Amino acid sequence: MAIREILEAPDPRLKTVSVPVEPGEFNDELKTLVDDMFETMYDAPGIGLAAIQVGVPKRVLVIDLQEPDEEAEPVKGEDGVERQPAKSDPRIFINPEILDPAEELVTYQEGCLSVPDIFADIDRPATCRVRYQDLDGKTHEEALGGLMATCLQHEMDHLEGILFIDHLSRLKRQMALKKLKKMREAA
Ligand code: NI
Repeated sequence: MAIREILEAPDPRLKTVSVPVEPGEFNDELKTLVDDMFETMYDAPGIGLAAIQVGVPKRVLVIDLQEPDEEAEPVKGEDGVERQPAKSDPRIFINPEILDPAEELVTYQEGCLSVPDIFADIDRPATCRVRYQDLDGKTHEEALGGLMATCLQHEMDHLEGILFIDHLSRLKRQMALKKLKKMREAA
């Protein structure tokens, strides 16, 4: 496994429309890509990553929401506050398609590893279904809600070359990109 470089806006490669993983490509190379994507995402750290974010224009997503495990014993942090440890639930979506997006919208404050340190409220359908393939090429379908529905839709956008800031007004998007540029220059 290896940590790969995450492309950051305004890298033009992030605007690529990713191509499907073909039937003959469910192989060791795909497994290595997925392993590397998880390692890169956990290292960042983030909760979702699309292959194009590491420069591979294939329809491959990994997600691990790492939500608090309510059944586990709370752990005291360095600040002395007790918190529920995160539960790891690594998910792989190959050639995903969104079905039946709800008319009802929900707002989450989103961020993105390709747009570091920028956060904005984005509205998306509250629930949807996803059809996808696993690493063996087997097709699955699943109903999604909550953060998982939002995260999957955010990652799906990457496969079409769309970033979450593209959902903002032009003015707000330009402000976000300017802030990103400033922070990069300061670093
Ligand atoms: Ni993203």
